[in-house]
Amino acid sequence: MKFIDIHGHYAWGIDDGVSSEEEAKETLKKAKENNVVALVATPHIFSGTHTNNDIVNYKKRIQQLKIMAKNYDILIAEGCELMLTEDTYEQVSNKLFIPFENTTYLLCEYNVRTLSSSRSFMENFENYIYQVIDAGYKPIVAHAERYFLQPIDLDYIQYLINLGCVIQMNTTSFLQRGNEQLYENSIALLDNNLVHVIATDTHSSDGFRSPNLKDAYKSLVKKGYDLEYLNVMFYKNPMKILKNEDIIIPNSKKRNVFRTLSQNIKALRIK
Ligand SMILES: [Fe+2]
Repeated sequence: MKFIDIHGHYAWGIDDGVSSEEEAKETLKKAKENNVVALVATPHIFSGTHTNNDIVNYKKRIQQLKIMAKNYDILIAEGCELMLTEDTYEQVSNKLFIPFENTTYLLCEYNVRTLSSSRSFMENFENYIYQVIDAGYKPIVAHAERYFLQPIDLDYIQYLINLGCVIQMNTTSFLQRGNEQLYENSIALLDNNLVHVIATDTHSSDGFRSPNLKDAYKSLVKKGYDLEYLNVMFYKNPMKILKNEDIIIPNSKKRNVFRTLSQNIKALRIK
């Protein structure tokens, strides 16, 4: 099973992600061990904070990462993770962001500390999403499971999808037990066909938020999700995005833990 990771802070020394050239090599090595064949470098860009100079520097660093990644047979695409704020309209109007390379997809995040307890959360969020869409870009909502108290508002996620958003989930949200809210939100989204892409949001070479797609895939196989459904979220949709094509809307058969006994045993043996 091959993977494509569309969300990770692999470009070193420019945000809170991978810190050094040495660590970047370690991180790519780990990505390679995880059967990652392509990834998008998505450094944080904050609306109202980052300037054109920052964009130029980020692109240079991603170019260096591209050269480095040839040693690992990993294709790198440039991108960013744009923080949506009240300054997003100006940020987007001035083109101060990095869409996924040769595409109109743009990874967007919202402040996770502003959880969805209020009406203003939703109004602000969708206003910023509209600003991205109006500028001609397709928003990918980063780690959608993280913005909601439990239970997650599935209708609101569907509403975002109807607007044209792609929904991305972080591997860590269902791998790291201990945060039940994130875990339950993740499973609710997966059980309701409301996730389009799964990615790592890698920030370092080791530990929490490092390349872990193999473990993530295996854990969902064990939970009984059907393999084609997983393939769409782990590989086919990321590939569609890199080609600037429309994504596939995942459609799972009901989760069945007994399926793991037969069909899924082979999948669990992936190297
Ligand atoms: Fe991120």
